[in-house]
Amino acid sequence: MPERLPQTYVYGAPLFLEKDMSSNEEARFSLFSRKKSQKTDVPELKIPVHLAVIMDGNGRWAKKRMLPRSAGHRAGADNLKNLCKNCGHYGIKYVTVYAFSTENWSRPESEVHTLMELFVEYFDRYDPELEQEGIRVRFTGDIASLPENIQAVCKRAEEGSKHRTRMTLIVAFNYGGRREIVQAAQKLAQQVKEGKLQAEDITEDLFAQNLYLPDVPDPDLIIRPSGEERTSNFLVWEGAYSELWFSDVLWPDFGMKELTQALEAYTKRDRRFGGLTKEK
Ligand code: FPP
Repeated sequence: MPERLPQTYVYGAPLFLEKDMSSNEEARFSLFSRKKSQKTDVPELKIPVHLAVIMDGNGRWAKKRMLPRSAGHRAGADNLKNLCKNCGHYGIKYVTVYAFSTENWSRPESEVHTLMELFVEYFDRYDPELEQEGIRVRFTGDIASLPENIQAVCKRAEEGSKHRTRMTLIVAFNYGGRREIVQAAQKLAQQVKEGKLQAEDITEDLFAQNLYLPDVPDPDLIIRPSGEERTSNFLVWEGAYSELWFSDVLWPDFGMKELTQALEAYTKRDRRFGGLTKEK
């Protein structure tokens, strides 16, 4: 019998989560009270523990409406709030979003400025809602290289939300998967140099412990909206065995319908992690 997780209430409706310990820590989830917008053909959704999203398509969303790109990013930031609510509804424990990559510095200065401004604004503006949803905020990326005011925002948001346990929102900011791997290698190399570690003792586990957030489980599912089908330097190490799901919908329009579709597709995937399918 799967372990029954405590009943949670979302939007006043009871939700029952069943944690099936045999399925790699994922929770199996029956929506006893499913709202119209979440109707699904799959009777029992398999819920990823960790969902990661590449928030792509803000620029095209704005262009379609003859708006400046900054309006697209603003709509994208607003939609992150919806994603959090929707993921909370399904009982997803970790959500990582790609908000600014190490390569995004090459965009026009005005656009970089907009994204930095949005970042500063976001956590103060939405903190009451994040608090209400029980969402802890963490950051991943080369945070130490960011301007001091941005680092202060990160610190404030992390400290202020430490006690929240329902879901963790991880914002990848100044993040690059390759940079993360290089920085982990540098940390290990330093230990070897100081004689604290033998090179031959470096294992995959030890390497992973030197990544930005070693305590966070690898993403089970990575979603990329906007029609692009690549992962663009996102969670390169952690995403080695992630399922991928792509959608043509642009990020600011990505809602509950698309999330449910992604979860349906994920439910049907056979995750073998290099092994063989278990005999039914
Ligand atoms: C990619 O779309 C999106 C980004 C580079 C930025 C994503 C940022 C946000 C959604 C808002 C900021 C987040 C926080 C936490 C404040 P694109 O601009 O490349 O779209 P395009 O491919 O259509 O041009």
